[in-house]
Amino acid sequence: MAAMKERWKNRLTQLEQAHLKRTLRVTGVGPKLYTSNGEKLIFCSNDYLGLANSAEIANEIIDELSNGVGAGASRLVSGNFPWHERLEESFSQFVGRPASVLFPSGYQANVGAISALTSEDDIIFSDRLCHASIIDGCRLSKATVEIFDHNNMDHLNRLLAQHNACKGGKLIVTEGIFSMDGDMPPLEDICVLAETHNAAIYLDEAHSLGILGPEGRGLAASLGVQNKIDILVGTFGKAIGVSGACVACSFDAAGLLKSTARSLMYTTAPAPALSRAICKSLILISAANALRDSLYQNIELFKSLAATAGIRLIPSDSPIQPVLIGDAKKTMHISEELWKRGIFIQGIRPPTVASGTERLRITISAMHTPTQIQRLVSELVCCGGST
Ligand SMILES: Cc1ncc(COP(=O)(O)O)c(C=O)c1O
Repeated sequence: MAAMKERWKNRLTQLEQAHLKRTLRVTGVGPKLYTSNGEKLIFCSNDYLGLANSAEIANEIIDELSNGVGAGASRLVSGNFPWHERLEESFSQFVGRPASVLFPSGYQANVGAISALTSEDDIIFSDRLCHASIIDGCRLSKATVEIFDHNNMDHLNRLLAQHNACKGGKLIVTEGIFSMDGDMPPLEDICVLAETHNAAIYLDEAHSLGILGPEGRGLAASLGVQNKIDILVGTFGKAIGVSGACVACSFDAAGLLKSTARSLMYTTAPAPALSRAICKSLILISAANALRDSLYQNIELFKSLAATAGIRLIPSDSPIQPVLIGDAKKTMHISEELWKRGIFIQGIRPPTVASGTERLRITISAMHTPTQIQRLVSELVCCGGST
């Protein structure tokens, strides 16, 4: 035991020395946060449309909470409530897929779905920049995993061709908007490759749901290729403003998930009121064109002010606008200086991103005002965020 304790201490010290130790900041629902040392503007939340503090959603679930809070058991035991099933139906309709399965979080959805839907003879082809939950799902899967270079269709094509004689199935995994870079995959090209090589497509729309496509139905819907997506994951903790996730798929895949996805079977079901909140949020999202317009105006404003100020952004048209710093110590120093000056942007370091690509992951919301965005840019310049 003493040896183990010593090892924990040493590992933590090593993380600290490499500027990789994480600390948790106590925060609130944005875009403004009030702390004991003043007001902060939040520029690192995924609440892109401001629905996390929607009074309409909060009011919707007050009745539900008077029925109780917890689900009491796994959905597979006695924790499956009517609102869980209503949400699954609503989500399937929202993204135009036959069925869907609700998980308590996007992390659990990816880990559970990827491992449950693939087996020994199968091959997963995953984009190099896919989220940790996808990486962990691949690690848990018994399938062979091939990583293709980020958005590189030649590389994906070569890897698919190399495995043409494979006995099992092929699954291409990508994201609607990449979580740390903010860019999008060439989804139409992926659909063509999938057809050519007889592969299925797994698309994680965590960051694209609510903000891309007609009525916020996501990237696949924006390109009219929903029918070509075999597995579509939507997470509800970002633009939807709540938490949880649904995996939309065929009836067979849904049946398999309910019978074999361990992160669904062996965990307590989400509070039913949260599912009711998500159903309400999906209705609001469908009608939120004005919010989406404000969001995109804010993104354009930030990009043009940042370009004028010489801030080095990773190219992105989405609310995720990363400033590449390239060093963990410097990234955390700038983040700390910004905090002191009233701007909250978390520094992103390995293992979340590759070493040498440390960054300030700025996220823009529909709730930010032009004045707040101007202030963000001038504070970034003051704190060393420009070239
Ligand atoms: C692409 C992607 N997928 C899945 C998740 C996990 O979702 P959740 O926060 O609901 O666990 C995230 C979270 O950041 C993500 O960025």
